[in-house]
Amino acid sequence: MAPASSLQPRAEDGDRPLSTLPREQILSLGASRIREIANAAMGRSDVLPFWFGESDVPTAEFIRQAGAESLAAGETFYTHNLGLPELREAIAAYCSRLHNADLTPERIAVVSSGISGLMLTAQMLLSPGDRVVIVTPVWPNVTELPRILGAEVIRVPLAVRGGRWTLDLDRLLNALTPDTRAVILNSPNNPTGWTIDAASQQAVFAHCRRHGIWVVTDDVYERLVFDGSAHAPSLLPLVEPDDRFVSVNSFSKAWSMTGWRAGWIEAPAPFIAELGKVIEYNTSCAPKFVQAGAIAALRDNRGEAAVGALRERLMAARRLLFEGFSRHPEIEAPVPAGAMYAFIRIAGFEDDMALARALLETAGLGLAPGSAFGPEGKGWLRWCFAAGPDKIADGLARLDRFLTIRGGL
Ligand SMILES: Cc1ncc(COP(=O)(O)O)c(C=O)c1O
Repeated sequence: MAPASSLQPRAEDGDRPLSTLPREQILSLGASRIREIANAAMGRSDVLPFWFGESDVPTAEFIRQAGAESLAAGETFYTHNLGLPELREAIAAYCSRLHNADLTPERIAVVSSGISGLMLTAQMLLSPGDRVVIVTPVWPNVTELPRILGAEVIRVPLAVRGGRWTLDLDRLLNALTPDTRAVILNSPNNPTGWTIDAASQQAVFAHCRRHGIWVVTDDVYERLVFDGSAHAPSLLPLVEPDDRFVSVNSFSKAWSMTGWRAGWIEAPAPFIAELGKVIEYNTSCAPKFVQAGAIAALRDNRGEAAVGALRERLMAARRLLFEGFSRHPEIEAPVPAGAMYAFIRIAGFEDDMALARALLETAGLGLAPGSAFGPEGKGWLRWCFAAGPDKIADGLARLDRFLTIRGGL
């Protein structure tokens, strides 16, 4: 008998065409709704885009220089699975300093971006059927990763109260049943800017400790808060060596390094030791020249200055943008406490995809549709305000034009 071709269906695949062969969890993944809007207008010079979550200025010169020098020195080889010891030390020292904690490098792994850190954490913790509780709306990757692994995602929605996105703490605690495997908290939150207060954070932690639930915090926006603090509330000062706690962090946002793909995980030392194996089967290691840039970001004093300058720029942009929104009573614009997004809705427009398309076509204004962040975001729009004042003012002028045209119809 001739050997079976890899393209022939296996017996259990029945008559299914090749396109249906991936696992069910993959087939059920939604395509990005942000991409759906952005792809339609990519390359159009008449469109002003605010749809992606990144700053419009490149990484600081001294960080780029450190990466370039490493490349020039021929540092193009594999590195340790968990990252360069020097970078792990620099991250441990940075986190300890920032949060008044006592973290050792054994609790740190360098990973190739925040999203990779989230996926690695999910691979470390989740089995099919595991229950994972997530506060939503949230960046879709956070809810899709557990689903890829076959876990069940329970969403606990934020709600707008008194002009701010807020968490119903009791609702979250009730959702954290003893059979829950993990809770994922993204604070400051993408897309709403909601930032958990220290008391609620500690209540969640105490509850999870009691029930053996893993607490995973997505802290990629922790430096981008607007109340004058240097960081959002963090559990790091409270964490004991054997707590079921993982913090995922990234160089992408605070140091404007989205294209570098560099981040880190803070977790119990035995977790980190096992994580090395999982990193091996994902990316194996982070590139050395990328890690050289990351070391410069943390060790050079100009790193903190760059974070501070970005925060100032975001605060100025937020002020300008919300002044603009306040001229339109039909716009509901809860004020974000952190991150880099305004999450708004306009009375009379229920369908956010249709609205995002109309803004694009009528006014050349590129915003992300809120339903990209889950059913809670239906009817809302996300505006990334990591931009200079001229660009924000131009965006607002386009919004004004759109509302005038629509109002006159
Ligand atoms: C909530 C959240 N977590 C994690 C990330 C991951 O960022 P990166 O993979 O660039 O480190 C993002 C990026 O947009 C995000 O919004």
